Amino acid sequence: MDIWHIRGGQRLEGISFVQGSKNASLPILAASILIPLRCELHNVPKLRDVDAALRILRHLGCRAEQWGNEVYIDSTTLSGSSIPHQLMEEMRSSVIFMGALIARCGEARLSLPGGCQLGRRPIDLHLDALHRMGAEIEEDGAEISCRVSKLHGADILLRYPSVGATENAMLAACGGKGETVIHGAAREPEIEALQEFLRTIGAEVSGAGSETIRIGGMRPQDHAVQRIIPDRIVASTIACAAAATGGHVELRGIDSKHFSTVLHFLNKAGCDIINNNRSVSIRSDGRLRAIGEVVTEPYPGFPTDAQPVLMAALLRAQGKTVIRETIFENRFRQVPELRRLGADIRCSGRTAEIQGVDFLHGTALTATDLRGGAAMIVAGLAAEGETVICDAGHVTRGYESFDLCLRALGADIYLEY
Ligand code: EPU
Repeated sequence: MDIWHIRGGQRLEGISFVQGSKNASLPILAASILIPLRCELHNVPKLRDVDAALRILRHLGCRAEQWGNEVYIDSTTLSGSSIPHQLMEEMRSSVIFMGALIARCGEARLSLPGGCQLGRRPIDLHLDALHRMGAEIEEDGAEISCRVSKLHGADILLRYPSVGATENAMLAACGGKGETVIHGAAREPEIEALQEFLRTIGAEVSGAGSETIRIGGMRPQDHAVQRIIPDRIVASTIACAAAATGGHVELRGIDSKHFSTVLHFLNKAGCDIINNNRSVSIRSDGRLRAIGEVVTEPYPGFPTDAQPVLMAALLRAQGKTVIRETIFENRFRQVPELRRLGADIRCSGRTAEIQGVDFLHGTALTATDLRGGAAMIVAGLAAEGETVICDAGHVTRGYESFDLCLRALGADIYLEY
């Protein structure tokens, strides 16, 4: 059990280099098995989810090692196409190995992904996309088998811009004969990062970042090097912590476009935001105001992953903010815990109303999920007295050395393992 100890009330101040993105790393790790390849990935965060993906790669017969933030993979030795349940259940995004395995091996066998507390998270869009490319899919309880004699290009229409389904379709399409066009694709920066990697390994892909992605042929390379983009949700979390504590933080190495909606709302709440080339500074005088209504949406809208941390930043803002969560049905799990700090939040279905209070008082909390746990840390930093958060490993799934990162900015926080 991880235990976060926070003594609130310190302003965050200083410069922070934002870690590499978890959600960009995971599909690229899966993509490394598309063809026999040796690849080096730089700026990969050291996280439990990344470690789970590396263990899947090793189980499939690849060499996969991480030293610091460098990852080396040799997928020339791939020898399997099935992933056991224990590895699948460690993280939901293991499902993107399905598209890569079917492209390389013509078959994939895995169980339904685990690791989710955010609500129902079906994979019908993933399966439909693979089916359109010729894959035959059999579901037997929690086991899924996909098999294809020859994948073919297809026109795929996603009725919702699912990030994972877009990634799975892109990966499978790399092994298909003929062109695949994905309509209604997700437009997140992580999709563009995947496109860049696929191009590096020889795939003809275009359109990532728009609603239509085209994948043509592949001229396989045997070596690739790629740097992982900075994590826009970690950047958003540090920005919210600076806002909540009346701090002044400069985030380096991050593209402000990737979290512009978060910066927009922090600015509306009263923070000064200064955008330089690949650095953003957030300055708050600690007296935030409510910001009306925030609605989570697929990119380029306001990200659901930043919703809990923005909520935490606004607990002491003057007035009432309404947050509507449209992506996941169960993403207010942090609310009962935040109330224990003295927050005034009312929830009804997918809407939460936050009425700002004058002060928060530290207490003992339990982290509910990755971003919910991060929200509790943000709130704890702004609360008076000590907050202790018992965390069954949620926050370290997505934040690398977060205690050290915050301590370097002046926070009084330490993580007991
Ligand atoms: N959905 C379906 N059918 C599908 C797939 C998705 O109905 O086949 C629905 C989901 O139930 C959900 C919505 O579509 O309501 C969005 O799901 P999406 O597939 O876009 O999400 P994901 O690929 O499972 C990724 C991130 C999440 C992030 C979401 C939304 C990774 C590894 N995960 O998940 O990140 O919240 O996109 O932006 O990229 C996190 O990092 O904390 C996290 C949960």
